[in-house]
Amino acid sequence: MKSDELFALLRRRGVLWPTAEIYGGAQGLYDYGPLGASLKRNLEEAWAAWFVGMSHDYHRIDPAEILPEAVVRASGHLENFTDPEVTCDNCHTAFRAETVLEKFRPEGVDGLSPAAIGEIVHTHHVRCPHCGSEALSVPQPFNLMFGLDFGVTGRERAYLRPETAQSSYLSFARMWDVGRRALPLGVAVIGKAYRNEIAPRQVLFRMRAFTQAELQVFFDPLSFPVPFERVRDEKLPVLRVARRAGGAETPEWVAAGDLLGSGELPEFYVYHLAHTYRFFRDVLGFAPDRIRLFEKSDQERAFYNRIQFDVEVRLESLAGYRELGAVHYRGDYDLSRHGQGSGKDLSVTLHDGRSVRPHVLELTFGVDRNLWGLADAHLVQDGERTVWRLPPYLAPVALGVFPLIPKAHAAYALRLADDLAAAGVVLQYDEAGTIGKRYARMDEAGTPFCVTVDGESLSDGPTRDTVTLRDRDSKQQTRVPVADLPARLLSAVRPPRPSRA
Ligand code: GAP
Repeated sequence: MKSDELFALLRRRGVLWPTAEIYGGAQGLYDYGPLGASLKRNLEEAWAAWFVGMSHDYHRIDPAEILPEAVVRASGHLENFTDPEVTCDNCHTAFRAETVLEKFRPEGVDGLSPAAIGEIVHTHHVRCPHCGSEALSVPQPFNLMFGLDFGVTGRERAYLRPETAQSSYLSFARMWDVGRRALPLGVAVIGKAYRNEIAPRQVLFRMRAFTQAELQVFFDPLSFPVPFERVRDEKLPVLRVARRAGGAETPEWVAAGDLLGSGELPEFYVYHLAHTYRFFRDVLGFAPDRIRLFEKSDQERAFYNRIQFDVEVRLESLAGYRELGAVHYRGDYDLSRHGQGSGKDLSVTLHDGRSVRPHVLELTFGVDRNLWGLADAHLVQDGERTVWRLPPYLAPVALGVFPLIPKAHAAYALRLADDLAAAGVVLQYDEAGTIGKRYARMDEAGTPFCVTVDGESLSDGPTRDTVTLRDRDSKQQTRVPVADLPARLLSAVRPPRPSRA
């Protein structure tokens, strides 16, 4: 499905729509409706189960979204969190340099100086995408943070956080004190990040307010033990810098163990890369041949990273690979910068008496982009019907409850729906239209199971208190005792967790 068709379908089903739609919308802002909000919650819980669930020493916190200026100064965002912007001197429209140069430099402009970008604009006689004039300005760095006047005097500066990660660094000392005082220590945040993107586009891909799920693992640089044997033979679809330099765009399958041979990738990093790949394949259900682990070069990496592989997934709606998450080795950049900025020593004393400033491994994940990815990959046409083949633990509604003949079976079906909802099953009761139409609505919403109450459910025979349970993907219907439903449904919607043993 093309991007606008997919968006139209999601909007029609109440998954999401533009913010302030009745006023014509606001660029880069979207609201989630009931299905979207539920899917997003499930996605966040699945992420937390997989990543925060890796260790008893990994925890979730819920920090403020506004950061004092001192924080973003120390973190480097005030100085470095910029995108090159070009403005048309004729129509005064501003563009991301990368967007204007898409045709001429498909690999992007990461790492290029404003002068080098200006040179490309000049050499190719690049025209303004809006008015067609050649009067494009020399690129200027544009800071992507939203600044705020903070407090009643308006003299204090603050910023909406540009990444959730910062809050984990700010909380490290407190987390150390309240925890086991041991490394590795994980601090996760799931929440909004804000960026004043120059050119918001592609619906959920370049938003101005979006949700990140980020885990910062603080570890001892001399020792970060991981159960590497569990992933050693896992084949990973990697696209390394050296192959990219030769023009390759498709990944090659390399065993995790063989990535260590190259020396510069440490065991802890490859282990987490494999764990992340498994999340995209096994938890989100993206086909392995759609995923690539894209290594960023020295020039392309974010300013704080020593090693960076982006997790990219090939999306039909956007006609190519798109970044949905990443594994960042940030070294001691963050604790060192915040140590200097705050004047607090953020090193810790370990059980063996050594004083270390922990390094950080960051597992980052764009919740909205992945939600779009789940629509792109799993919303399929099966003959006449549109089916959203979401894994059951991600489905916004786990169960549809129908009376076969509303007049005769509604009272029983409503009571059943109440009991199942009280047991924790997220469900929708539906008695409108034919059973076929009700199934079709549930299929399109991704609901994995439907139960129908019929005459047999109410009879005095052996099928009393049984219902038909229909599976979305196989369309098979089985007769099931009502008493079995809560346990069966709740176990199907529990997200997978990694083994800690
Ligand atoms: N803490 C690291 C960090 O923020 P990032 O690559 O800038 O790294 C992390 O962002 C994730 O957030 C990305 O992988 C992407 O999925 C998501 N993301 C970034 N900018 C976004 C935007 N404007 N709209 C939607 N998602 C975005």
